[in-house]
Amino acid sequence: MAGVLLLAIAGCLFGQGAAQATTKPHILLIVADDLGWSDVSWNNPYVLTPNLHTLATAGVIFNQTYGQPTCSPSRAALLTGKFPFRLGMQRVMDNKTPHGLPLDEELLPQKLKKLGYATHMIGKWHLGSCKWEYTPTERGFDSFYGYHHGAQDYYTHKSARGLDFWDGKTSVSDQNGVYSTESFATRAESIISQHDSNTPLFLYMPFQSVHTPHQVPSSYLQPFSTLQDDNRSSILGMATALDDAIKRVTDALKGKGLWDNTLTVFMSDNGGEYSDGQSNWPLRGSKGTLWEGGTRVPAFVHGNMLERTGYTYHGMMHGVDILPTLVSVAGGNEDPGLDGKNMWQSISTGADSPRTEFVYTIDSEADSYAIRVGDYKLIIGGKTGKGGWYAPAEMQQMGILTETVDETGPFLFNIREDPLEKSNLYGVAEYASIQRAMRHRLNELKAFEVPFPTDLANDPAADPSNYGDVWMPGWC
Ligand SMILES: *[C@@H]1O[C@H](CO)[C@@H](O)[C@H](O)[C@H]1NC(C)=O
Ligand SMILES: *[C@@H]1O[C@H](CO)[C@@H](O)[C@H](O)[C@H]1NC(C)=O
Repeated sequence: MAGVLLLAIAGCLFGQGAAQATTKPHILLIVADDLGWSDVSWNNPYVLTPNLHTLATAGVIFNQTYGQPTCSPSRAALLTGKFPFRLGMQRVMDNKTPHGLPLDEELLPQKLKKLGYATHMIGKWHLGSCKWEYTPTERGFDSFYGYHHGAQDYYTHKSARGLDFWDGKTSVSDQNGVYSTESFATRAESIISQHDSNTPLFLYMPFQSVHTPHQVPSSYLQPFSTLQDDNRSSILGMATALDDAIKRVTDALKGKGLWDNTLTVFMSDNGGEYSDGQSNWPLRGSKGTLWEGGTRVPAFVHGNMLERTGYTYHGMMHGVDILPTLVSVAGGNEDPGLDGKNMWQSISTGADSPRTEFVYTIDSEADSYAIRVGDYKLIIGGKTGKGGWYAPAEMQQMGILTETVDETGPFLFNIREDPLEKSNLYGVAEYASIQRAMRHRLNELKAFEVPFPTDLANDPAADPSNYGDVWMPGWC
């Protein structure tokens, strides 16, 4: 109460506009693509991500933060503050399926715009683009520079034969041959240099790195020349290229005088795909699975507005929490209709997490379910493949070997005691009441499911050959 009064008085004394401009932090939200738990230097010293490392260790490293198992659902969670199973967004978007993030959702950039922010997005959307209404500049972003779909060539910016690179609604053809990680950093520098410093800035940068294809400027491969796995070398080179691009962005913010008032949030969208050379070691599983390795992501926050820094936060957190946390930092009100929790007090002081449970997925069409309640995790149905502990090449060369097991679910784990999911407690008499309670909670949550629209077929109208080899929105 006293704090609120003081702010109100300060507003009168110094003039509303000036007070707001200086109190609201600029927000840099960076998302890496398919970057695994062990693809960052603070979890694996073989990885070369020195700039991220400096930011992470000077900020707060999140050690129990979750995305969804794949791209589109994670991005839906991040931008809506809701679990994707409530939005019919449990699965990856396909280039030719007429579907998108529901248009009645108010997204993070829309909320920040109402709070006075300039909002810019650079990178990967992957939340629907069959019509313009689904795309970033109609969903709260003042500008968009990037691609609508899930994956593409880093240099030609094409997937299959179609170009998918946009500046707002204009397709970009002058970046052919430029590595996307560098195009995106260049665009960020230009947005930052042109930004009016009195306006709070929201810059959302979901990079292409380190998703396949395995493409990286060859200079980045040099440090990994002794690795006997080309895919792993490429992924590690891509992680360093990402790290360099992020340094360009933070340097630009420093040069403009914005950095001291910038809050940076970094996270991966999901775990790495071990068969492509990403690594979630020592966590179990791979991208696309409900194991911890598919969902528990490297993440941190950095900024002068944190009260306590230089520590690891062990509280439970999920991508849905980013929206309410950033909205609160930006001075907005809490929205009780969201799944996300405002984590600001907890992460900025190191206090306990307000989150006690979350949904990994509820996908009845695929008969795939997993939830976490307290220390326990229940997995029922779904794909239980890729359930090994996959050692990355650098560890294999040191004699640490991949382990696989042949197990079928359901599974019940105590994640606090057994974060590597080695000991299945499902069906063990001692845990019968926990198992019952978990099943009961899952059944309650299932009532909120909006099924993924599996009846929507691939539509040939989407084909880029209809639009001069461009993946053009407007066919649904
Ligand atoms: C983070 O979590 C992992 C898995 O639970 C654990 O092995 C590791 O020690 C934790 N890291 C820190 C710095 O506490
Ligand atoms: C390397 O990755 C490609 C996919 O980009 C995959 O097809 C291939 O099998 C991988 N190679 C190895 C040795 O794992």
